[in-house]
Amino acid sequence: MAQIDFGGTLEEVITAEEFSLARAREVLANETVAVLGYGVQGPGQALNMRDNGIDIIVGQREGGDSWQRAVADGFVPGQTLFSVAEAARRATVVQYLLSDAGQVATWTEIKACLDPGDALYFSHGFAVVYKNQTGIVPPDDVDVILVAPKGSGRTVRTNFLDGSGINSSFAVHQDVTGRARQRTLALGIAIGSGYLFPTTFEKEVYSDLTGERGVLMGCLAGVMEAQYRTLRSHGHSPSEAFNETVEELTQSLIRLVAENGMDWMFANCSTTAQRGALDWAPKFRDAVAPLFETLYADVTSGKETRRVLEANSTDDYRERLQKELEVIKNSEMWRAGAAVRSLRPENRRD
Ligand SMILES: NC(=O)c1ccc[n+]([C@@H]2O[C@H](COP(=O)([O-])OP(=O)(O)OC[C@H]3O[C@@H](n4cnc5c(N)ncnc54)[C@H](OP(=O)(O)O)[C@@H]3O)[C@@H](O)[C@H]2O)c1
Repeated sequence: MAQIDFGGTLEEVITAEEFSLARAREVLANETVAVLGYGVQGPGQALNMRDNGIDIIVGQREGGDSWQRAVADGFVPGQTLFSVAEAARRATVVQYLLSDAGQVATWTEIKACLDPGDALYFSHGFAVVYKNQTGIVPPDDVDVILVAPKGSGRTVRTNFLDGSGINSSFAVHQDVTGRARQRTLALGIAIGSGYLFPTTFEKEVYSDLTGERGVLMGCLAGVMEAQYRTLRSHGHSPSEAFNETVEELTQSLIRLVAENGMDWMFANCSTTAQRGALDWAPKFRDAVAPLFETLYADVTSGKETRRVLEANSTDDYRERLQKELEVIKNSEMWRAGAAVRSLRPENRRD
């Protein structure tokens, strides 16, 4: 374990230097690891572990695209690919990577497949923390652990393939075997984490739900739309409004932030841009701060998760989601975006 200074606070981190892949293989040598769910996180974690030499099986309900994808990725029905319950029954480590609503729907069945000493693994604190809504209360005789990659399952895989990794938080909620931490770290390294940092199930889910509703997705989409509309309402063309709102951010400025931080991005812009951004950043911060407080309160009170479970448990969930996404795709702003992307030189090459 290494201690790193994060802006003045010393925090523990674990990388493959502190916990090597060889050690992870050793810890998992006598385990059967089952990845339940081949949606977004499932494939990323399963394929990385398989490439890292861990013996894994996949549990996925039959008949849909996810099953077909697992077969296409080389999992063999009856050998390494099973129904969700059958995989859970065979496993000593059950990675519960069904959608959060799917976990609620299948819990009774999965719970019955857990043996004493098994590890029940989550990539989100949702199910356990909001147990009053999910009904998911793990039995007393299993380890309950978490590794939560801080990115999409797709990036878990693409970063692994390009030799980097994705940072993940980890937590032990219940340790009955005395091996829970070892198991957690071994799995965290095996799924290809860049570095692992400690959290609790509560902290993980509160920060995750806030982040995705806030800066990472909800707030980002909202402020982009607000600026685009302002520019359009003052007579700017769609091309100009989109370039000044999205394209310049994604193709240039945010890459500088990723490389070397916000000050680096500011330092590499015009002095005109710097002055304005430095003056306006606090105004935006103060304007949205109350909204973030409301958001955090709605997350911790369980209001947000109640809404998620209600919306995502209906049979026509995917169709309804698709309709909402179509509205965004068909809006002027994002149609303009499609045109802007098509004009990128790399998209115009034969
Ligand atoms: N998405 C991410 O990048 C991400 C990032 C960090 C953490 N996580 C966490 O990782 C976990 C998995 O999330 P995900 O986004 O990968 O989920 P997802 O893509 O929505 O995965 C859905 C999976 O659950 C199955 N499923 C859904 N409802 C089911 C039901 N009633 N019975 C049986 N199977 C059912 C789906 O099967 P079908 O395809 O057949 O419907 C599919 O295999 C969640 O706890 C999530 O919070 C996700």
